[in-house]
Amino acid sequence: MPNRELIDPAGRRVNYLRLSVTDRCNLNCFYCRNDPSTCFKRQKKELAKQDFVRIIKTAADIGITKVRLTGGEPLLYPEIIALVHEIASIPKIRDISMTTNAILLPQYAYQLKKAGLKRVNISLDSLQELNFKQITNGGALKYVLEGIDAALDAGLTPLKINVVLLKGINDHEIADFARLTLDRELHVRFIEYMPIGGKSEQWDSHFLSLDKVVEVCSKISHFVPAESENGGGPARYFRLQGGKGKIGLITPLSRHFCKNCNRLRVTCDGKLKPCLFSEKEIDLVPALKATNYKELLIKKILAALKVKPDPRLVATASKDRARQFKGNRKMNEIGG
Ligand code: GTP
Ligand code: 5AD
Repeated sequence: MPNRELIDPAGRRVNYLRLSVTDRCNLNCFYCRNDPSTCFKRQKKELAKQDFVRIIKTAADIGITKVRLTGGEPLLYPEIIALVHEIASIPKIRDISMTTNAILLPQYAYQLKKAGLKRVNISLDSLQELNFKQITNGGALKYVLEGIDAALDAGLTPLKINVVLLKGINDHEIADFARLTLDRELHVRFIEYMPIGGKSEQWDSHFLSLDKVVEVCSKISHFVPAESENGGGPARYFRLQGGKGKIGLITPLSRHFCKNCNRLRVTCDGKLKPCLFSEKEIDLVPALKATNYKELLIKKILAALKVKPDPRLVATASKDRARQFKGNRKMNEIGG
């Protein structure tokens, strides 16, 4: 019987798999891609549902307990409901969630809940209609807000809103986002802009450390540490005193969390990525075609574990860390 724990050479227990099921998106955020014409089109051919299920079942046998479906926009994957259902039926998978832009949630939220999805994280970078439209190259904020309501109604909770902080673009909205947590039970997480996707000069112009969020939130009210989460996600949590929801800080550049990294990623075309910042990829497709696919997939997962970068070699200054990014995939091809 295979091992039930995945431990990498740095001693980190890996139990979280992020599955990017498609690189297509129905928004077109400027920081996520290089070429605006590519987002709506499929770049890489997606694996069939059964292949994704084989990967997850095998990974669950050797220690993966948490799965997140990402994209592009995961709700554009044609068999998304059936895929959720099959993954949710794997007993060892205890947490199945999705990161989505919410546009299609009014249509899918109840079906997703029924199929076994536990919760969603929603990407939303502006609460202002015009700003949202500019960031997303034409998207309509109202559909995202309807999607958030649909997710709350369907019980896809705890619901988290992900805000990528972009200097000169949405940093004047920090307080508005933070105040959402005062009387609603949702969590707002600010994320530092990583130099993945977009053009490189864009990162120089728009990166802003989350120290700015702490500064703004501390002026609204007492900004106090809040309990962290069991699942070991990347966020550190705080609360505006008395607020119902939490505020999360995800700081991959100014204060990286690599020593606690517990995850692997699989791209929609079946490449296993040991690290978001590394160009290393292990192709799972030949293994998926074999009759002894399970044995071969386990070997590949163990090989990926061995090449997860050493957290002691990760730069601590934001600019140096940004320079360590290697890779040819844009964010829509990795899924965050
Ligand atoms: P929870 O389980 O709800 O905590 O989800 P999550 O934060 O793991 O997933 P989500 O897709 O919402 O990711 C939020 C942000 O964290 C995205 O911008 C991701 O790119 C970033 N992130 C997630 N995992 C990693 C990681 O391993 N390394 C880095 N640098 N960033 C990550
Ligand atoms: N830096 C940080 N976060 C990003 N995301 C997409 N591109 C970037 C980037 N360059 C976020 C999305 C989504 C999550 C999966 O990753 O907004 O919330």
